[in-house]
Amino acid sequence: IKDQNYQIQGIGLTDLAKEYGTPLYVYDGQKIQGQVKQLQDAFSTVKLKIKYATKALSNINILKLMKKSGTGVDAVSIEEVKLCLHAGFSPDEIMYTPNGVSFEEIKEAVGLGVMINIDNIPMLEHFGTEYGSSIPVCIRLNPHILAGGNAKISVGHIDSKFGISILQLKHVHKVVEAYELDITGLHVHTGSDILDADVFLKGAEILFDAAREFKGLKFLDFGGGFKVAYKPGDISTDIKDVGKRVSEAFKNFCKEYGRELEIWFEPGKFLVSEAGTLLTKANVIKSTPASTFVGVDTGLNHLIRPMMYDAYHSVANISRLEGPERVYTIVGYICETDTIAADRKLKEVQEGDILAIKNAGAYGFSMASNYNSRLRPAEVLILDGKAHLIRKRESFDDILKHQVDIGI
Ligand code: LLP
Repeated sequence: IKDQNYQIQGIGLTDLAKEYGTPLYVYDGQKIQGQVKQLQDAFSTVKLKIKYATKALSNINILKLMKKSGTGVDAVSIEEVKLCLHAGFSPDEIMYTPNGVSFEEIKEAVGLGVMINIDNIPMLEHFGTEYGSSIPVCIRLNPHILAGGNAKISVGHIDSKFGISILQLKHVHKVVEAYELDITGLHVHTGSDILDADVFLKGAEILFDAAREFKGLKFLDFGGGFKVAYKPGDISTDIKDVGKRVSEAFKNFCKEYGRELEIWFEPGKFLVSEAGTLLTKANVIKSTPASTFVGVDTGLNHLIRPMMYDAYHSVANISRLEGPERVYTIVGYICETDTIAADRKLKEVQEGDILAIKNAGAYGFSMASNYNSRLRPAEVLILDGKAHLIRKRESFDDILKHQVDIGI
């Protein structure tokens, strides 16, 4: 967003709110392509494969844009696998990283031809029994690194449910040998909102240590987790620095390993967060002895990040470019304390003004629900200076669609 005039690629955001209504998710396609390019450039000296974390924003048009930009995808459910296939990815471009799913679902994914990233020893054994060495497979390791912006999104520590502990590698090797498994890749994902390049280097060292004991690897997967700047004064992961330092270490390791491996990353936020804005309308301005609230036509049902992770999202009143500012607390319309942003200075808000909630591209719509029987918003993608509706606003029919009236 250009803060001066609230446009994306020359299209006014208030015009979009008028045309498509609110609440409305708007995505800047050019920004997404720019982020992909930044990552590609940062790792230009190694064989990089980007596996976009589908869960961050899974509209099929975003997936197609990723494909056009040269990425593959990481999927975490069989439905995401199918969505990626539907969007045009070939099975070999899809990594399937499930957690806690049944072996039935893993078999279904194998049947669809995608790479499986195994997250626990029992499934590795099932895999061995079923496929032996006939299907290459990746192993997700838990690196025992505590990092990430919030306890809920720090997933690489010892007490996390994700991955196979590096302390259990001996057991892994026993299973691999018993079934002659073809381990083609190793994976770690430490968490989300990771600023520090050192965390990725630490992850690299752990992957290298583990990789030394596996013959025949083709790739090492570093997961996602690059931080984007949410708050004013926040900084994003210095992707150039991470690229330079991790590539250097990676090249040295490849020399030692005797083979040029591929390096995989699975970013979600880094690719789509800043490209997304949630437009919402001020329904009511309510002064109380303690605060001035702006009640808007969205809430935790459309953007759960502030409530779930205490996440900070910048908010601007894009209907007012001039005039005085006041301090407001922006709250949702859900029957919960769904504070979107507390104590923020905005241009004086009047009923009907459009507010822009920024940095909402990742884990915004994809975590939206119908709580309070509210409809999920529409989505618009701006591409080459043109706005495209990529998801219709739900209607009341959608609320009833799967309910079965048993006639009582
Ligand atoms: N790879 C794996 C295996 C993951 O579990 C995740 C995120 C990613 C990649 C992508 O991480 P990213 O680059 O987007 O940080 N809903 C939370 C984030 C949860 C992320 C879950 N896994 C949020 O809104 O902050």
